Amino acid sequence: MDAHRRPPADHTLSLIAGGYAWLPQRIRQSPDRAVPLRIMGRPALALSGPEAVRFFYDEHNIRRHGAIPEPVSGTLFGHGAVHTLDGQAHRQRKELFLPLLEPDRIAGVVGHVTAAWDEAVPEWAARPQVVLFDEAAAVLTRGVCRWAGVPLQDAEARSVAADLVAMVDGFATLGPRHWRARRARARQEARTARVIEDLRSGRGPAAGRPDSLLARVAAHRDADGGRLPVRTAAVELLNVVRPTVAVSWFVAFAAHALHRWPAHRERLRDGDPAYAAAFAHEVRRFYPFAPFLGGRAARDLTWRGHQVPAGGTVLLDVFGQNHDEELWADPYTFRPRRFLERPPQRDELIPQGGCDPRTGHRCPGEGVTVGLLESLAVRLARLEYEVPAQDLRISLRRIPARVRSGFAVTAVHEPGQWPAAAGARAGAGAGS
Ligand code: HEM
Repeated sequence: MDAHRRPPADHTLSLIAGGYAWLPQRIRQSPDRAVPLRIMGRPALALSGPEAVRFFYDEHNIRRHGAIPEPVSGTLFGHGAVHTLDGQAHRQRKELFLPLLEPDRIAGVVGHVTAAWDEAVPEWAARPQVVLFDEAAAVLTRGVCRWAGVPLQDAEARSVAADLVAMVDGFATLGPRHWRARRARARQEARTARVIEDLRSGRGPAAGRPDSLLARVAAHRDADGGRLPVRTAAVELLNVVRPTVAVSWFVAFAAHALHRWPAHRERLRDGDPAYAAAFAHEVRRFYPFAPFLGGRAARDLTWRGHQVPAGGTVLLDVFGQNHDEELWADPYTFRPRRFLERPPQRDELIPQGGCDPRTGHRCPGEGVTVGLLESLAVRLARLEYEVPAQDLRISLRRIPARVRSGFAVTAVHEPGQWPAAAGARAGAGAGS
């Protein structure tokens, strides 16, 4: 075929297989921070920058319905989730999650999780080695389930945590991780649906807490006035529990940062709340998690001279924007102080989406995430441990990225219990 008549290349595979760097590289080369693409055979446009964030979150421009591919809703979000709704249906469903923005709710989740962490630490000290990613996931599962009123036997915490982690780990691949994620979702949706059915029929251990998240989800009414179908209620309850457990990714990244740049450990140990907040923001900015967000053009759109027909795909480059040198000095340097010098701006720092969580799709769990990271990073910095030789690489080709070893630690001691004359302390061990 002659080159002029060849259809334009499709970028779907490159976008997924290229990992975190593929899209930002293309956007960096474009003076207007916008790149026309073809995704799944259709015209698409990728955007970056605070103005692009506001364009993307304008419902007149972008719709979410039909934008999330089935492999993602079948693992990460669940079918019929709030993430996939628009307009009045989205606003009504989002009501369920907005209380999470309130300081007392954030403090509630953080209080339960830190209590679970403090219970777990003496048990880590009794073991030859623990993997922080796995332990953090178990602690977060115990804490968020207690807070949400979801019954959880102590003996089930690890297997439930493993399923919740698998649901996040497998959304961006069609390999074995993906099928593990689907099985995990099926198990956890069925388990959560049983809890909701029990509550609605006045049975079961959860029946006595009318103010719990579980009770609110079970009683929630959608835009049509009806209660959520039990499976949808399970999906939405899991849409709080699952991402809270995903904070384990950031806990492992925080441990990685403290190991690589131990000076932050001293600052965190002092317990200065402003520094802990700055550290939490820098972990969310610097380390890779959500690569980009996708929506569909609600009508024929023009952005900085580029056109997307109605129904075309629009991508917001999350990882690229969080490392854009026009927004961040030395973007590839881990420097919490940047957030002491200038607080995070709403549409600049977007690891959990942009614009206003009350009116758009921005993550309603951002305050919970920051609160958890602040508290757990300080606890981590105060904990004494050694870091044995292990593979601490973080591949930018794997979505979601994670510290390959999960961050193993040995000789864990609670603050004040470390023998003064002992050998290498955290940060001084081998392996990097
Ligand atoms: C590991 C930390 C987290 C990350 C990286 C994260 C990231 C995100 C992102 C990127 C979105 C999509 C925003 C958009 O589509 O515009 C989102 C939405 C959402 N997140 Fe989070 N999140 C995290 C933690 C949490 C927590 C702790 C909760 C609840 C306690 C939560 C609940 C939700 C919900 C319900 C939505 C859907 C909002 C909507 O569509 O209106 N997330 N999150």
